[in-house]
Amino acid sequence: MSAPMEISFSVPPPPPESAPASLASTPAPPPVPAAAVSCSPQPQPEPQSQPAAAAVAPSPADDRFHISVEVLLHSTSVARHEEVQAAVERMLEARSLSYVDGPVPIPTGDPFLIENVKRIQICDTDEWVENHKVLLFWQVKPVVHVFQLSEDGPGEEPSEDDTLSSFNEWALPAKEFDGLWESLLYEVGLKQRLLRYAASALLFTERGVDPCLVSWNRIILLHGPPGTGKTSLCKALAQKLSIRFKSRYSMCQLVEVNAHSLFSKWFSESGKLVAKLFQKIHEMVEEESNLVFVLIDEVESLAAARQAAISGSEPSDSIRVVNALLTQMDKLKSWPNVIILTTSNITTAIDIAFVDRADIKAYVGPPTLQARYEILRSCIQELLRVGIITYRQGCSMPCILNYSTLKEKKHSLDAAESDGAVHLSSLLYEAAELCEVNSKTADLLFAVNQ
Ligand SMILES: Nc1ncnc2c1ncn2[C@@H]1O[C@H](COP(=O)(O)OP(=O)(O)O)[C@@H](O)[C@H]1O
Ligand SMILES: [Mg+2]
Repeated sequence: MSAPMEISFSVPPPPPESAPASLASTPAPPPVPAAAVSCSPQPQPEPQSQPAAAAVAPSPADDRFHISVEVLLHSTSVARHEEVQAAVERMLEARSLSYVDGPVPIPTGDPFLIENVKRIQICDTDEWVENHKVLLFWQVKPVVHVFQLSEDGPGEEPSEDDTLSSFNEWALPAKEFDGLWESLLYEVGLKQRLLRYAASALLFTERGVDPCLVSWNRIILLHGPPGTGKTSLCKALAQKLSIRFKSRYSMCQLVEVNAHSLFSKWFSESGKLVAKLFQKIHEMVEEESNLVFVLIDEVESLAAARQAAISGSEPSDSIRVVNALLTQMDKLKSWPNVIILTTSNITTAIDIAFVDRADIKAYVGPPTLQARYEILRSCIQELLRVGIITYRQGCSMPCILNYSTLKEKKHSLDAAESDGAVHLSSLLYEAAELCEVNSKTADLLFAVNQ
């Protein structure tokens, strides 16, 4: 199997991941810090030893798990978010059911919710309970986030000769990224850790933590082999944070800098492009109710461009442009409402100052067996949904089991007893095993066809 995913932090990491399976049946989970309420609403099983928890003011004792519930409004809805939030909280209270990740049906007897709400979704319970175990309603304090999707596509800034744009810009949360976070499958905990740390970064600034004492630059670097979902994960993370921080920031924007167009040697105007780009970003961040994400993909291209200029194989212009960009990025850090997201396809050290100062450097590697299985399962379910593939005529419709259920069933059943679902899922499991060497999604799909 390929190298496991790792995550390393430039601040002391929390103790080994919490949420043992036994938490699911623990009647009285430990107190929840205030951080969990106002940002990524997650309880910390050992608050006294968590850096994020230590940095926030104590909250009234609350021994429940704070679980995010995301509420998507219809694009036509004009309801006040506070009203929808209160209505959903009442509905969840009356529902008295367990909490597992996934959609919650909108009650047909509630005309207000029916009229305004498109989807209600419970999120990220798997950080606290493993293997799809459920949280009971009395163990949970739902934290409701109400949002509407922006339907505008990416706004582009055309370059001087109109061939390549120097950046794309989205208002978040964007329709284009809806469901992206959920579609990305990694080992349990990777996404949650990223979300929690990015949320903590925003919280630190919001609460005015002295940067001389706790240095926190709000720079995230995802690195690893190409095709492992780093760019997608950056966009999905920005989308998630824009939903979770909707009540704090009235507007969220994602700016994706197109390094290739900025540094193309055919542009003698690169310097002007950088200036124009950052003038625009500065206008965005000056408004303190804006939250701005700046994504610089494949940052190693900047280091390479600088190196090439030094060695004389690139015009000396490009070194000025790279340096201008790095200086601008460095300046951006001082703004509390900016998160810089960077990716790199190389795993060795990158010679770029601002990346050195990344708070979070996460290695995103090829998917584990469980992630590969779940990726294949989600692909097949989607193809079944749209009717591109179908079950053989006359066959009943066995569902494809999730990874944990399949594992449990395989242990408890002998071959003779194995039902249709187990058989079908086992075939998929074999395909996932075969995908070990080639882990890009295209290769996974190819293996399924075999
Ligand atoms: N772990 C994963 N789970 C689900 N989809 C993935 C995963 N890794 C990659 N993909 C998919 O593969 C494609 C390429 O991802 P991308 O973000 O461009 O990768 P990278 O930036 O690392 O090269 C995207 O469609 C992405 O959704
Ligand atoms: Mg990429």
